[in-house]
Amino acid sequence: MPRAGRFIFVVLGLLFLAATTEAQLTAESQQKTGFVRLDRVTASRATDNGIKIRSGSAVVQISALRDDVLRVRVGPSGQLPEDASWAALASARSATAKVTPETSASTVGFKTARLRVTVRKDPMELKVTDLEGHVIAQDFPGRPIEYHGSSFRVYMKSPADEHYFGLGDKPGPLDRRNEAFTDWNTDAFGWQESTDPIYKSIPYFITFRKGVSAGIFLDNTWRSSFDFNKEYRDGFSFGSEGGPLDFYILYGPEPKAVVQSWAWLTGFTPLPPLWSLGYQQCRYSYYPEAEVRRVASRLRSEHIPTDVIWLDIDYQLKNRPFTVDPERFPHFDDMIQDLKAQHLHTVAITDLHIADLPNAGYKPYDEGKAGDHFVKNADGSTYVGVVWPGKAVFPDFTEKASREWWGTLYADFVRKGIAGFWNDMNEPAVFLAPSKTMPDDVQHRIDEPGFAPRTASHLEIHNVFGMENSRGTYEGLRKLAPDTRPFVMTRASYAGGQRYSATWSGDNSSTWNHLRQTTPQLINLGLSGFAMTGADVGRFAGSPQPELLTRWLEVAAFHPIDRDHTAIGTNPQEPWENGTREDLNIRRHYIEERYRLMPYLYTTAEEMSRTGLPIMRPLFLEFPNGGTGGEPVDLSTGNAFLLGPDLLVAQSPYPDEMDDYTVALPSAVGWYNYWTGARIATDSDRKAIDNDVVTQPEVHVHRSLDTLPVFVRAGAIVPEQPLVQSTDEKPQGPLTLRVYPPIGANKECSGSLYLDDGVSYAFQKGEFLRLGFTCRLSAQGLMVTVTAPTGSFAPWWKLLSVEVYGASRPAAAASASALDGSGATQISTGYDDEHHRITALIPDTGKGLELQLTY
Ligand code: NOJ
Repeated sequence: MPRAGRFIFVVLGLLFLAATTEAQLTAESQQKTGFVRLDRVTASRATDNGIKIRSGSAVVQISALRDDVLRVRVGPSGQLPEDASWAALASARSATAKVTPETSASTVGFKTARLRVTVRKDPMELKVTDLEGHVIAQDFPGRPIEYHGSSFRVYMKSPADEHYFGLGDKPGPLDRRNEAFTDWNTDAFGWQESTDPIYKSIPYFITFRKGVSAGIFLDNTWRSSFDFNKEYRDGFSFGSEGGPLDFYILYGPEPKAVVQSWAWLTGFTPLPPLWSLGYQQCRYSYYPEAEVRRVASRLRSEHIPTDVIWLDIDYQLKNRPFTVDPERFPHFDDMIQDLKAQHLHTVAITDLHIADLPNAGYKPYDEGKAGDHFVKNADGSTYVGVVWPGKAVFPDFTEKASREWWGTLYADFVRKGIAGFWNDMNEPAVFLAPSKTMPDDVQHRIDEPGFAPRTASHLEIHNVFGMENSRGTYEGLRKLAPDTRPFVMTRASYAGGQRYSATWSGDNSSTWNHLRQTTPQLINLGLSGFAMTGADVGRFAGSPQPELLTRWLEVAAFHPIDRDHTAIGTNPQEPWENGTREDLNIRRHYIEERYRLMPYLYTTAEEMSRTGLPIMRPLFLEFPNGGTGGEPVDLSTGNAFLLGPDLLVAQSPYPDEMDDYTVALPSAVGWYNYWTGARIATDSDRKAIDNDVVTQPEVHVHRSLDTLPVFVRAGAIVPEQPLVQSTDEKPQGPLTLRVYPPIGANKECSGSLYLDDGVSYAFQKGEFLRLGFTCRLSAQGLMVTVTAPTGSFAPWWKLLSVEVYGASRPAAAASASALDGSGATQISTGYDDEHHRITALIPDTGKGLELQLTY
């Protein structure tokens, strides 16, 4: 080696050693720290984007990453934790905003263009407000940050009217107030409303008080915990048993702004393949091959629109990942192709536990062993745990090389045409172990930008293991098929996991309570970044009553992912099973409605991929000041939700009860009944059962099996398509625009449509189609405008069917013209009094148009 090269090599080596040693020292000193209490500022200095504070041996750094995003890092023994993260993107962590230092005799701090940070010196207390003085976060008096050995806890004030959301898939009510939680990814078969922890750890929550919202993210992968008003009725707290104290505060004030900042910090959900929004059929025990074919044919012969068939572990030889059982599935490759010919995509399970099979010609084991890719025991031997295949070994997913190797294992399946992959059991679940997972002392290797390369115990890696498994899958698929959008479903994950995979709520049960649980659970997942979510429809454990299955299939038609799944040994659960012909007709009707709504659903998914807004939304996200009293609606039970911005789905709060119920509709806008097209008349000033006066406008719902109440926001334009049996089919007929004219003072409405080929990345090169729709109400009637499209993707329709709802009589006249008003022609309209709608069929010239309806 030439001398200059040798010199650079030596310098790089020394730098590397220095970095490693510093990281090890930080990790070690944190573990050894005894009792440290940050109760007094002993020194402080302004930094470029915030402040650095000393409190005895401890150091605290508060930085503004943006005017509305702060990061707080604490080191108990004087060194800040590593500037590294599995969740927070390097681009966000290195962002910086301009600050103005602000000090007084008793405080130090700074302000940004949006926030003021004040730290009282003695006793030390952090307070963050917006510039109007709303408190965003404030230390709990008398409870400064404390370290006891490696564990720490942060206490904050909690006003009585503050609400908390997020924390991923935790069961229980929508509002986390008065609850406490632990983050430790757990295989929780048969979990119930009070079970905690379950599969995912997303140490992030959103605060919401009087329309003002903020996010708090503890970026710590160790076993952590959150207490909302249990220990202190007017305080919440969060802490961990080890690892860094590194947390972020994201300011709204609108909850939507917080959700969008969360995506900025931890990444967006990629645009999913269109087919993943179709109906999906799964079961643990679809075997042999003839059974899969039978289910596929029956889905088609019963005309249940379907896009996906899932293969659970039964297709594998002796439950060994990346194998196929040749006896059960003698024509596996042909089967995949035959399903494809029926417009059915296949998703196959590929669990992370590799069968421990030396010298048996099992490629995943042989390659993994040769490449040194498996997790090790503290003594350096390979860790072996028992899971589905029996004794198994586990790829070390926090190491880049192991993740990359894992990704290559998909080559064969991708070649065979399998469309998506399922990463299950990745908490990781280990059978026969009392802890249900790996021992605390197994060793993982960390090779990740930001982190100094080192080994780490399972205590540090456990909560991020599942996410890194899904990352390996996603990134592998990106390499294997660079122009195809991957679809990965994971069970375990950590904050930021939405970058790689969709998720579901695990092994739920066939009970009414679980149906009820689904709404708050999926909403909180969406607020935590996971927007592509679903629950096992009909449920995993147990067999549902026919009515339960019917009602489940109804509401799931409005969930981001609609997948019917059940366990081995339960009764058949496909839509035609377990019910009468009438049940089947209702179930089919709802799935069909999902397919009619596909343009709206896909447009919402595209918005999610661009903005971070979830597909399934709590009412307060769209209407933070929704109620007449300025109070948001439906914060506790969470039975109602929005699909995208405009559709409000209002399941019964107790779906097994016979009673009618009321739905509180946000009063900021008017509403229409989605099914009948009628405008909604609401009651107000009703007395509730506890004698409180209810000022929120409410609509009375008479329960019936065949109608799940769905409402549409006045002022919405919802695009729909003719029914297809799979998203692979080209819809035949017009694009329908359902126009719901504004009610009240507002005179405008709007909507949009996004379309592309649904599978590739051609949209990144401009091959998409985007349309905007507006309407304007005037004394003469209604003007509907369709903008000229942007993007080069060709639409499937030639005609537009405009349906204007809430109409009590036919239109007197209608004319369509180009956007500049030229070429106006009279057109005929229809009127349907049952659905309160005026209809007009207009050729779409592809250049935009205006439709003037006079009535
Ligand atoms: C556990 C998963 O949660 C479930 O959905 C799956 O069917 C079984 N594992 C078998 O793979």
